[in-house]
Amino acid sequence: MNSIIDDITLAKAGEERIRWFREQMPLMADLRRQFAEERAFEGKKIGICLHVEPKTAVWLDCFLDGGAEHITIVGNLGTTKKDTAAFLATNPKITVYAKENDTLEDHERYAEMVMEEKPDLFLDNGSNLIRTYFKKERDWKPFGANEETRTGRLLIDDAGIKPTFPIIVIDDSPLKRLLENAIGVGQSVVDGFMRATSTLLGGKKVLEIGYGYVGSGIANKFRAMGSNTMVYDIDPVYLLKAKADGHTVDMDLEKLIPQADVIVTATGRFHIIRNEHIRLFKDGVMLCNAGHFGFEIDSDDLRKEADSTEMLDKNVEMFRFGEKRVFLLGNASPINLSVGTGNPIPIMDLGLGLQACCAARHLKKDNGLPIEIQPVPRDIDVMISEKMLAL
Ligand SMILES: NC(=O)c1ccc[n+]([C@@H]2O[C@H](COP(=O)([O-])OP(=O)(O)OC[C@H]3O[C@@H](n4cnc5c(N)ncnc54)[C@H](O)[C@@H]3O)[C@@H](O)[C@H]2O)c1
Repeated sequence: MNSIIDDITLAKAGEERIRWFREQMPLMADLRRQFAEERAFEGKKIGICLHVEPKTAVWLDCFLDGGAEHITIVGNLGTTKKDTAAFLATNPKITVYAKENDTLEDHERYAEMVMEEKPDLFLDNGSNLIRTYFKKERDWKPFGANEETRTGRLLIDDAGIKPTFPIIVIDDSPLKRLLENAIGVGQSVVDGFMRATSTLLGGKKVLEIGYGYVGSGIANKFRAMGSNTMVYDIDPVYLLKAKADGHTVDMDLEKLIPQADVIVTATGRFHIIRNEHIRLFKDGVMLCNAGHFGFEIDSDDLRKEADSTEMLDKNVEMFRFGEKRVFLLGNASPINLSVGTGNPIPIMDLGLGLQACCAARHLKKDNGLPIEIQPVPRDIDVMISEKMLAL
């Protein structure tokens, strides 16, 4: 099967870059040994949709060493690292569908191509594979599926999917939400923002939209860097939490937008920043997104409405509306992954460890998993936590 990637000549660079990540993922090394001994994935075909970046590449060894026959991986939108994609594509046991500038249409086409492989497992992030599978009658059924993130879970619910195999939502693990979402993403979003802008955070008015696990971590990390943080959430409970955490809040988003130097979205929903907000923006406002899909910001609509648009740097696009300038960072893709190198390595060692253990659980006889959407089994959370504590 032929991979669809940007540039195979980047394979060597991709391989070299992964070395540091491999070094920093001891849990993955441990699980890799365990799965190799158990032959946990013997002869299995695995369909994956996840960020094609170095930590994911390290993770794939768990399945290959565990005996997997073949892996087909689709990159998430806007986060593919071309060198990682090239390195993976050199492995005859891996097919990669991931280009840096893939569109939603490409992404959906790739998901349908994965179905042709009839995988035994889906390891999904954004539920693209799961939703594609349930779009029509299929003549095979996987043993099970994992969904990694909040947006993916919301989209499965929105589609009204009635599972015919167990689906484990990794994001429903307290471990993932407390460590990755609440702690890791905040750090990596600030890092991605800094890489894009090289600006001073102290004194900047940063508006966080969405104060769930991810948004609260982001607001807290910006504040730790000296920013004046404001929060908006449609849920008054979370807004009250933000107030009690010491952020400036308002139940009316329109009162907060005109004050913001920086706006960050992390809601898991779409069309949060829209053309109707243009009139409210401060001149020079920077927009970025941390949610799974870039559609939290209606960037195409903003672009169409603008008097002019110009790329000022690889990750900074300027829209002019009359005298007003608006800067879109990282094309609204999750900024920690599109501009930065994603979440801190130990955080993803843990998160991808949960994914790998849940994948192995699907394949175990008498695994006790009901045919429904469910959280990570508690014993896996405990086992991963204990392993991480002992490292
Ligand atoms: N970039 C990353 O590395 C990364 C990592 C993990 C999760 N995510 C993504 O981040 C997003 C948020 O995840 P989470 O775990 O914080 O979810 P969450 O459910 O804990 O929080 C989402 C919050 O957004 C609020 N919200 C929903 N619609 C809103 C609207 N229209 N306006 C304002 N607020 C609104 C909700 O009330 C909730 O408080 C998801 O898209 C998730 O997939 C990204």
